[in-house]
Parts: sequence; structure tokens; C-alpha cells
Amino acid sequence: MSIRTRVGVVFGGPSREHGVSFLSARCLLENLPSDRFEAVPVFVGKDGRWHGVADSREEMLRYFARPAREALLDGVVPGSRPAPPSEIVASFEAAFRDGAWGVVFPILHGTFGEDGVLQGLLEAMNVPYVGFGVAASAVGMDKLLMKATFGAAGLPQVRYVGIRAAAWRDTAHRAALLARTEALGLPLFVKPACAGSSVGITKVKERAGLEAAVDAALAVDATALVEAAADAREVECAVLEGERGEPEASFPGEVVPGHEFYDYEDKYIDDRSYSILPAELPEETSNEVRRMACAAFDAVGGAGFARVDFFVERASGRVLLNEINSLPGFTPISMFPKMWEATGLPLPQLLDRLVTSAFRRPLRGR
Ligand SMILES: Nc1ncnc2c1ncn2[C@@H]1O[C@H](COP(=O)(O)OP(=O)(O)O)[C@@H](O)[C@H]1O
Ligand SMILES: [Mg+2]
Repeated sequence: MSIRTRVGVVFGGPSREHGVSFLSARCLLENLPSDRFEAVPVFVGKDGRWHGVADSREEMLRYFARPAREALLDGVVPGSRPAPPSEIVASFEAAFRDGAWGVVFPILHGTFGEDGVLQGLLEAMNVPYVGFGVAASAVGMDKLLMKATFGAAGLPQVRYVGIRAAAWRDTAHRAALLARTEALGLPLFVKPACAGSSVGITKVKERAGLEAAVDAALAVDATALVEAAADAREVECAVLEGERGEPEASFPGEVVPGHEFYDYEDKYIDDRSYSILPAELPEETSNEVRRMACAAFDAVGGAGFARVDFFVERASGRVLLNEINSLPGFTPISMFPKMWEATGLPLPQLLDRLVTSAFRRPLRGR
């Protein structure tokens, strides 16, 4: 009898992207090769409580019985309260006993699951897990830290100004920050540093709209970014950790947004956006994207996998790094699995490699 590794597929969680993670989790549960792995669902509620296998299965069924759009948009709303610590701790212990995971595949997009919080918990509990470690997750989640890290590695990006809420509240500081944004021209993209799935992002076409856009971004996170808008095609590249830890890049794909920019509706609901796989790019541009995707992965100290997003400027053909995503989606329309498929790596093999990579990471301090 072969011994299969128990993989806890952790989904849900206290984030705005709670709903999306059900789709990714279902994809993992259905496609992890069952000859090698026994995948079990592990649901984390919006209140932070963990659930055993039977409860998690039921939660999944309930989700897919709801109207798709409503279920997808179901996320934590600002001001909602988590369960008391004693209940969260007890629920974690009970879920762990029930699931008996040998390894965890976290697939909770956004805060808690993608920002290093869950990764820190798993490190503390000595549980191996797939994907970025604590520091890399935190850097990948905070667009200001991410940009600073990419800048230090010499990777080209759009010009930007970072804004902290405390400075923005101060009249003199605010004036100085606004003056610095003048050099970025128009249009501008204003976004919260920590969010994802385009929450709190505004495209600003006239200076008059800038302050309201910064306020909107700061309502989501205490740090905002004002960026020069790239007039560009949006190209993405999937990265996978190789057997010796070195990153490998897929063929790039292009995303053609249906709305004015690639927003939440576009990403998960609207079918007006579409992708081109592999992206139709000159060979040197495609190679440049792949090289930069691996460099971005290395710059943040990535592990396991990531999706790296780029702008390819229409006028110059120049490649600019936009962001790295440490827990890319695994929904039916998600680019990460599609890009590997187009590169010749089918989903079950891709997932096998991902789970295997979790065991390469040495546990902290050992
Ligand atoms: N500086 C920019 N120039 C042009 N388009 C941008 C810029 N920043 C963001 N966008 C548009 O907004 C979308 C979401 O922004 P992004 O920074 O990728 O945030 P998220 O983390 O929510 O995906 C991008 O896919 C792109 O369509
Ligand atoms: Mg993005």
C-alpha cells in the first residue's frame, strides 16, 4: 500500500478576496494527483475560525449552491469582528487533528493568507507549506515595499510616489507630496499599498481628482501609491521553483482588459477581458519578460511559485515590472495554470511540483 501525503488545502479566510479562494481551492482539490496525494479541504471563516474536513466540504457545497456573482464577491467588510482568540486557537487545534495535514497548500488570496500572517502561523506550528515564506509574502503584499525591493535589484518600473496616511493628514506634508506627484504627469494610477484584486484603485485623469483618489486608497490601507500610468499592454509570466530552488519562467501571456483597467469585475466576473497564450511578442521581449520574472522572484526571496505581471509600453516596447503575486488564482480563467499549460506542464504535474517544493524549504532555525 502506498502512503499518500495529506495535503490541507486551506481556503476562505478573513480577506476581501474570501469568495475567490473557493474557486482556487476547488481546482486544487480536483486536480492534485490522487495517486500521490490525499487532498483535504480546510475552510477558514471570515471570523478567523478553522474548520474540520466535513464542515469544510459542506461550506464548499453551500458556496457553489449560491449565485456565482454573489458568492464570488463575498468577502470581509471593513469593521467586521473576528472570533475571540480562545475560539480561534481551539478551532485551529481541532481542524489540525481532524485534517492531519502532512503539508499545507494555502490558497487564500489577499490579507491573512498571502501577506505572511498564515505563513508565520504555519512556521510556528512546524507545518510545511507551499509557496512564499513570511518575509517574501509580506514584501509581495505591500506594493511600496515591493517597489523598493525591485528598485534595489535594478528592475525597471513606472515612476511612483508613496504616501503614508499620517503625512497625508498634515497640511505641509500633503502639499510636498502633491508637488512630487506633478512630475509623474497624467493620467495617474492611485492605489492602496496592501489590497489586491484592484480594490481601492482609481485612474486619475485630471489633477482635480487626485486628492479624492488618495483618500479612497487610504480608506483601504494606511499607505497609498501614486503611479505614472503606463500606456502599455499587460503581460504576465508564471514562475515555478526548480528542483534546485532556482526559478523557471513559463511562456508569457497577455491579458486584454475589458474595462478601462484590469479590475475586480474583469478578473473574476466579466467575460469582456480575455487572454492571449502565449503572448504575441517579439522574441527578445518575451525573453526579457521571462528573465525579469525570475529576477523579480529572486529579488523578493520567493519560493514555490508566483505570477509576475508586466507592462510592455506600446510606443517603446520597453518592459516594466508591475507586481509579483505570491498566491495567483487557480480559477477556471486564471492565468497561472494556463501559462504553464501553454508551456507544456499540465495542471496535475504542476500541482505535484508545487507540493513537492514545500519539503525543500528548511524549517526556521533548524
Ligand atoms: N501604473 C499603471 N499604469 C497602467 N495601468 C495600471 C497601472 N497600475 C495599475 N494599472 C491597471 O490596474 C490594474 C490593477 O493594478 P495592480 O497594481 O496590478 O493591482 P492589483 O494588485 O489589484 O492587481 C492593472 O492590471 C492595470 O490594468
Ligand atoms: Mg495586478
